[in-house]
Amino acid sequence: MKTLMRLDKFLCVCTGCTRSQSRLYLKKGCVEVNGQTEKKQDFKVDPGKDAVSLEGRILTYQEHEYLMFHKPAGCVTAVTDREHRTVMDYVEGKNRKGLFPVGRLDLDTEGLLFLTDDGEMAHRLLAPGRHVEKTYFAILEHPACQEDVQAFLAGLEIGEKRPTLPARLCLLEVPGQVTITVVEGKYHQIKRMFQARGNRVVYLKRIAMAGIPLDPELGKGEWRDLTEEEIERLRSLC
Ligand code: URA
Repeated sequence: MKTLMRLDKFLCVCTGCTRSQSRLYLKKGCVEVNGQTEKKQDFKVDPGKDAVSLEGRILTYQEHEYLMFHKPAGCVTAVTDREHRTVMDYVEGKNRKGLFPVGRLDLDTEGLLFLTDDGEMAHRLLAPGRHVEKTYFAILEHPACQEDVQAFLAGLEIGEKRPTLPARLCLLEVPGQVTITVVEGKYHQIKRMFQARGNRVVYLKRIAMAGIPLDPELGKGEWRDLTEEEIERLRSLC
């Protein structure tokens, strides 16, 4: 079935601009549809077919939004909260309606969080049977050792019905600094895994998820849209 969309709405969806800004672009003659200047705000376009450009730049239509966010400590992984700033408080200049975080990071954990309005994809990425990889950088109270590496690989009792699935623990050069890759997302999982080894996490940052690394250009509290390749990568896992 062909779903047509008003041109002013199409501009808002693609650029994140407001309805009144989109109407201004149209009035000024900045918008072309299939090579023809179009000024009518209620002109109907087929998002999957028509080539729409704004000031010469072709716009690509995406049904859903996919963002990469660098969560700072002290920000709560929720849409609303009475006490703390939420991830949504950081997403400026975006139509935030419908956006939510994919999974959770603790209040004191930093790093990579995807935000989307695509409930189906989020659900699939988080499904326990999907085994999507998450990699963390951690600073520990005590240096980890080779026995820890083996124990993480074998699975740990952290008070769940079953031991944790095999996890990769890499010891970094600086004593006490490690990376860990897990394929589950249990509550406080990394902290509980180290607790089970008699150790304690003093700093935790997610550095990759689903094979997509946190963009080093993103400062704490900053976000950007996922690239086409990154979205494809997530789709391929669903
Ligand atoms: N494991 C934890 O313990 N905390 C997080 O925020 C994420 C994974």
